[in-house]
Amino acid sequence: MAGAAQAQNDPSFAPCAACHTVKPGQNRLGPTLHRIVGAKKAAVPNFNYSPALKAQKGVWSEAELDAYIANPRAKVPGTRMIYVGMPDKAKRAKLIAWLKTQK
Ligand code: HEC
Repeated sequence: MAGAAQAQNDPSFAPCAACHTVKPGQNRLGPTLHRIVGAKKAAVPNFNYSPALKAQKGVWSEAELDAYIANPRAKVPGTRMIYVGMPDKAKRAKLIAWLKTQK
């Protein structure tokens, strides 16, 4: 296995890894989160988004991501992401910092 350090998921990604990878083009129950920070919302190819997420405008800025991860269904009512949310701000910051390195 080449690049072991890069291939490892950060522990802060553990709650997401059941449904997401950070590998380009690799969708699971959720779309790949490769290069997600700063990416256009609901724009991963070959992923069938909910109408609610498709209707979202703009990009996943750090602030937008933070709000969605904290409470997906409050931020995007009708989203198909069935995840309770991550209430701990420090944990979210760590996770978003790591996601930024996945490019
Ligand atoms: C139970 C499965 C599941 C878990 C756990 C989960 N997600 Fe998701 N995620 C989804 C699904 C399904 C979607 C698509 C939602 C939609 O279409 O409404 C999604 C969408 C997203 C999007 C929008 C992507 C885009 O292309 O616009 C982001 C960002 C995201 N998830 C981040 C996370 C993060 C970070 C975690 C961990 C804290 C996480 N998700 C945990 C299933 C999950």
